[in-house]
Amino acid sequence: MTSPHAFWLAGRQATGEATFDVTSPWDGGRVGTVSLPTDAQTEEAVAAAYAVRDEFAATPAHTRAAALDHVGRRLVERTEEIARLISAENGKPVKWARGEVGRAVSVFRFAAEEARRFNGGEAQRLDTDAGGEGRLALTRRFPRGVVLGIAPFNFPLNLCAHKIAPAIAAGAPIILKPAPATPLSGLLLGELLAETELPAGSWSVLPVPNDRMPALVQDERLPVISFTGSEAVGYAIMDSVPRKHCTLELGGNGAAVVLGDWASDDDLDRAATRIATFSNYQGGQSCISVQRVIADASVYDRLLPRIVAAVEAQVTGDPNDDATDVGPLVSEAAAERVEAWVREAVEAGAALHTGGERDGASYTPTVLTDLPADTTLAREEVFGPVLSVQKVSGEAEAFAAANDSKYGLQAGVFTHDLQAAFRAHRALEVGGVVIGDVPSYRADQMPYGGAKQSGVGREGVRFAMDDYTYERVLVLTGLAL
Ligand code: SIN
Repeated sequence: MTSPHAFWLAGRQATGEATFDVTSPWDGGRVGTVSLPTDAQTEEAVAAAYAVRDEFAATPAHTRAAALDHVGRRLVERTEEIARLISAENGKPVKWARGEVGRAVSVFRFAAEEARRFNGGEAQRLDTDAGGEGRLALTRRFPRGVVLGIAPFNFPLNLCAHKIAPAIAAGAPIILKPAPATPLSGLLLGELLAETELPAGSWSVLPVPNDRMPALVQDERLPVISFTGSEAVGYAIMDSVPRKHCTLELGGNGAAVVLGDWASDDDLDRAATRIATFSNYQGGQSCISVQRVIADASVYDRLLPRIVAAVEAQVTGDPNDDATDVGPLVSEAAAERVEAWVREAVEAGAALHTGGERDGASYTPTVLTDLPADTTLAREEVFGPVLSVQKVSGEAEAFAAANDSKYGLQAGVFTHDLQAAFRAHRALEVGGVVIGDVPSYRADQMPYGGAKQSGVGREGVRFAMDDYTYERVLVLTGLAL
């Protein structure tokens, strides 16, 4: 047996006493064996991060930026290998995995740029009142302390990058916990970070099992928690540490709204293709995948068959094959849950237009209409390759339908009408509105996060840096202003 993957403890490789296997969702084969940190090793990483926090905050911007640039360069050099690794451990088709590596490169590039310009400080004169004569306030941001980053399985590289890169850019040490199903990509990021000159202790990548996380969450040396994952776990974390600074990037059941002016054949072909692609990318396992299509009655009858045809054109199969659009879900249990939700919906009266079949961890891309409002599928995040299409009359009804969700991550609105775009921006209760496209569009420098039950705080490099830091004012007195 080959030796297990080491984890990264305060910037150096280490192994623990026990191991666990990472298996391929596609064929069940072993992708790797990972060493688990012991409690003592986890404590060592936390103590090291805590001890280095002042030194790291004071590390020159050029040093941190150079490290971030280095990681970005190495990701480019190793793109194909890393994409294959993501695909193997997560089951996402390799073409989507390549895209993920490209996005992680951008995250490290943005972080390097932000590291150079962040915290220049803002000066405010205080002699606006008599008591403030000769006084100036200088406001700068300082790290809140060590960040505990908890990453999900669906973007095993890029969502780790979104935790680590802003922390380094802001000078905040980080303990990163990758998802148990997909730890290898996060550990590989550790390999690249270990090639840099960042101070020991400023970062660790620890595949701590979920049942040992409550102790880390409670640890007072880790005042910031940045979590991406399920609503239930996210809010349980926040409720257990109400005095910590938690950012939660949780679920969504993204709506693509097609308004009546998006009506030419080309318009509808484009909407159908984008909807089909982004309902099914990564098996629908993205918080901003298209789960709900809300179409104006004037275009509905021409749009629905196009969507069904475009969904049926998605190539399913081996994620390692360049031609594959849709691979397996992360596990057979995940596919069984999707199957159960679709079955419940159909039994409640939903019409199944295509899909609805499971084979192991794979689930066929599925389109439903007439979805009853009280079904699990209508209320919850499916995180699978399933979409429903709903007919509405007019813009107001469309926006109300989009808002009829406990979630509010992103929404897409297909319209050419600039005024409708502004009305959508005002009306939709989400963290982001995308005009002329699906809700699934994310550029990694944009603020990204939710309204309602979709979370708290924002990612997107600089916005995460704001969350990892706080403003501290320096008042200077006796100045000739
Ligand atoms: C997520 O699932 O929330 C991440 C989506 C993305 O980064 O594109």
